[in-house]
Amino acid sequence: MAGYHLGWWDTAGVPTQARFGKYLRPALVIAAARACGGSETAALSAAAGVELAHNFSLVHDDIMDGDQTRRGYPAVWSVWGTSDAILLGDTLHALAYQVLVADLPELVAVEAVRRLAVAVAAMCRGQSDDCAFETRPRVELDEYIQMAMDKTGALMGCACALGALSARADPETVSLMDCFGRKLGLAFQFTDDIIGIWGDPIITGRRAGNDLAGRKRSLPVVTALLSNTEAARELAEMYEFDTALGEETVARAMALVEAAGGRRSAQRHVARQVQAAVDTLPAGLATADLMALANVIARRDGLAGTPESAPADA
Ligand code: IPE
Ligand code: IPE
Ligand code: MG
Ligand code: MG
Repeated sequence: MAGYHLGWWDTAGVPTQARFGKYLRPALVIAAARACGGSETAALSAAAGVELAHNFSLVHDDIMDGDQTRRGYPAVWSVWGTSDAILLGDTLHALAYQVLVADLPELVAVEAVRRLAVAVAAMCRGQSDDCAFETRPRVELDEYIQMAMDKTGALMGCACALGALSARADPETVSLMDCFGRKLGLAFQFTDDIIGIWGDPIITGRRAGNDLAGRKRSLPVVTALLSNTEAARELAEMYEFDTALGEETVARAMALVEAAGGRRSAQRHVARQVQAAVDTLPAGLATADLMALANVIARRDGLAGTPESAPADA
């Protein structure tokens, strides 16, 4: 199941190369390590550990969101059932710590484990809020941002911090990297929210409007509902019921979010947040690698017709 989820083979164990994730978090670990003068080799166990923790969250997330597909293929729970998917997630989580400490000197390993544990706990709190928001009558912008910071920002911050730690950076640099990664993670979630509504199904592997069908309070929806427009009022009525939205209603909701300015507003939040991330780093740490990764995140929702894993031209 792990090999299937990671895209190494199909459900029957036949090798395939069709559906890898983007490996953004390990890329951040390694880029942060290099920015701090460390080697890729010393950062590898942290990079693999963070990616495993991320994949644990995805396996469980698809159960929570009721999403049948992940990276364009049936999600683990829809192939093997919920019990096995929960257990696979738990196993990947345990493996993350096992791999994380494999190559780190003891003192660094203790701090790395502490940081990953704090990030995973934040991620769980964010996941809980995200699910709770589906049936809340109203969600404020700052509540949404706190939720996204927890569910996605915390682990990306942790990725950058662990890269810095593996390079034996001083505590101030480690926390600057954490801050950079958190802000980038927030921007990443904002674009994920835009893609969750308007993303090309060929690229996302999910039908358009997927998050609306699940009545997710993603950023475009939150900002649309907070706008004082006729579209916002109609959208609010649709979101009042606590059943999933049907296909026609989803199409109407999509148009309403757009009309209420939800998409434009979310795009502005992405640009602001990426800039805030970049502004966190002093010149010495703002390496070309880290800036390129920031740029990939800034442009992700604009890559219409291009695979998400395609290299940015930055
Ligand atoms: C998806 O993350 C979950 C979020 C935090 C939004 P990614 O889009 O980084 O997942 P993969 O690993 O590249 O598929
Ligand atoms: C992904 O969140 C899981 C975590 C961040 C823990 P989402 O539900 O927002 O992302 P996708 O779109 O399913 O990957
Ligand atoms: Mg999901
Ligand atoms: Mg989710």
